[in-house]
Amino acid sequence: MAGWSQSAPIKVLVTGAQGQVGSELVKLGFSDTYFEMIALDRHGMDITSVESIRHALDHYMPDYVVNTAAYNKVDAAEHDKQHCFKLNRDGIANLAEECGALSIPIVHLSTDHLFDGHYASGYSEDDEVSPLGVFGESKRQGEELLRQYQPKHIILRVSWIFSTHGYNYLLRTLEKARVSQAIEAADDRQGCPTSASDVARVIVAIIKQLDNGAEAWGTYHYCGAEITTRYRFTEAILAGAGQYEALKTEVLIPVPKKELHAEVERPASSVLKCHKLLSTFGIKQRPWRSELVSVLRDIYTNKRY
Ligand SMILES: NC(=O)c1ccc[n+]([C@@H]2O[C@H](COP(=O)([O-])OP(=O)(O)OC[C@H]3O[C@@H](n4cnc5c(N)ncnc54)[C@H](OP(=O)(O)O)[C@@H]3O)[C@@H](O)[C@H]2O)c1
Repeated sequence: MAGWSQSAPIKVLVTGAQGQVGSELVKLGFSDTYFEMIALDRHGMDITSVESIRHALDHYMPDYVVNTAAYNKVDAAEHDKQHCFKLNRDGIANLAEECGALSIPIVHLSTDHLFDGHYASGYSEDDEVSPLGVFGESKRQGEELLRQYQPKHIILRVSWIFSTHGYNYLLRTLEKARVSQAIEAADDRQGCPTSASDVARVIVAIIKQLDNGAEAWGTYHYCGAEITTRYRFTEAILAGAGQYEALKTEVLIPVPKKELHAEVERPASSVLKCHKLLSTFGIKQRPWRSELVSVLRDIYTNKRY
């Protein structure tokens, strides 16, 4: 177990390292001498292949594994159940069994889609899970298998992730706003947007404390501070982006979520209560609005569009 002043950095292997959270985590870890980051995309470690996992673990011998790899297309999952379960359930089981055998702790990301969304005031870690679709169910089963095979785990459930790249609501909204005069957004869906770099900050803070002896394995919730609606989030995106480019959208229309014709019902409330993370690790929620400002600045300054 290393201390705060350890000489050798701790090795953190990140799966799905080109994804939204994976890439932010690798970036943060590379700038911190506490860590040696091992950034693996699916070619470096395919979590659906036991051989691939064994090979990577034997080769790199990490102190921790952070699993950000996942199948995340919530609507597509309804027609692509096999693929979704192969990654979100069986892939996690593979990783948990292999890491369990070597006693390598796992930090794994999960989702608000485990809940049916009926609690407007939000969900804590002890609330009953009841997914509305295939994606949520696959993540629920992945969590269960991780608990079974590797007790030394942290499950961090997060929600509404946005970042400068990848498949996310912020970038999809900007694409629409460049071509559509009017945009519709649900005003009966509430949640807390969370930047991928903020999730990376939380993971780094957790691992440092685990590495210093915190025996705090278990399930935690994290999301950005301030509950909002999809409509209000869209409004904030358009206002922020409008400072950098002339968007075509002039009207934002509030609509009930069922009118947006998603293939699977979304939770009405995706709000995650984060008290346990604060009381266990002292990690506070960061306001998503300031994170949005930073992400938009990055997108436009570095021309990521
Ligand atoms: N995005 C959200 O709004 C949201 C909300 C709540 C929770 N989460 C959870 O947070 C975590 C990170 O989400 P994210 O948005 O950062 O994900 P992401 O951007 O979709 O990244 C996932 C990564 O997994 C990789 N991958 C796919 N199949 C793989 C395989 N067989 N082996 C290894 N890697 C594989 C993907 O690579 P390719 O690009 O090559 O496919 C991709 O780089 C996930 O667990 C997700 O369920 C996300």
